[in-house]
Amino acid sequence: MDSLKSIDLLDSGVGGLTVVKEIFKQLPNERIVYFGDTARMPYGPRPHHEVRKFALQILEFLKTQDIKIVIVACNSASAAGLSFTRENSVLPVIGVIEPGVRAALAHTKNKRVGVIGTTGTINSRAYDKVIKELDPEVEVFSQPCPLFVLIVENNLVNTPEAIKVAEEYLRPLKEAEVDALIMGCTHYPLMEEVIQRVMGPEVRLISSAEETAREAKDILDRKKLLNHDVKISAHHRFFVSASPSTFVEIGEKLINQRVKAYQVLLPDIT
Ligand code: DGL
Repeated sequence: MDSLKSIDLLDSGVGGLTVVKEIFKQLPNERIVYFGDTARMPYGPRPHHEVRKFALQILEFLKTQDIKIVIVACNSASAAGLSFTRENSVLPVIGVIEPGVRAALAHTKNKRVGVIGTTGTINSRAYDKVIKELDPEVEVFSQPCPLFVLIVENNLVNTPEAIKVAEEYLRPLKEAEVDALIMGCTHYPLMEEVIQRVMGPEVRLISSAEETAREAKDILDRKKLLNHDVKISAHHRFFVSASPSTFVEIGEKLINQRVKAYQVLLPDIT
């Protein structure tokens, strides 16, 4: 039965687990298959055509798994070409950019919205385009924060260096007096405490995870693909392209359950 198939999520590393956490909350009967391309992380500084190729290669591998929907739980890969990934998949594919924008627009009062993300995401102006489409009156202030991904993947979030880096990156956004800040990289919610401390309590931080999970739920519901069989024992599968140890360490803390990750060696296509 198709409803018993899994939800697939892909990212360059642990970032997409912030979306997994939300899926577990909103869709507790669903099984997930996760792919973290840790061997080729970070995606942010890479050219878009390369990131698109990586996404397709991962989708190809995932054909060996029983999947009903794909969540590109990575802003850099969404910005690099979500429509391209959609065209190359027979399954429904959703990204994280539109859901994040919708949440930010629902929260901003002064119509000054900040966006932080990887260099690839910010340079693509993908957020600016969607925000302007949905509300042309909103002013967008963007800032690439390339070191955040490395801070998260190397387990350095609670260090004085992380705070210093955050202060440096976020200063222009504080000065611009944004009242909503989109964490336009799925790794960044793992630094939420630090970012909130630097921005101050009056700025609303937006993670696209919640909205993305809601969108997945709506699509599965419409397609009658939700699993309502509560007896199913959730057997999630995690794959990474480099050694799994740090992924497992960070992942278990984040999703609060045991993570058994398998390494998959992807052929070099750069
Ligand atoms: N977590 C990803 C994103 O949302 C990728 C970060 C990276 O690998 O640079 O952009």
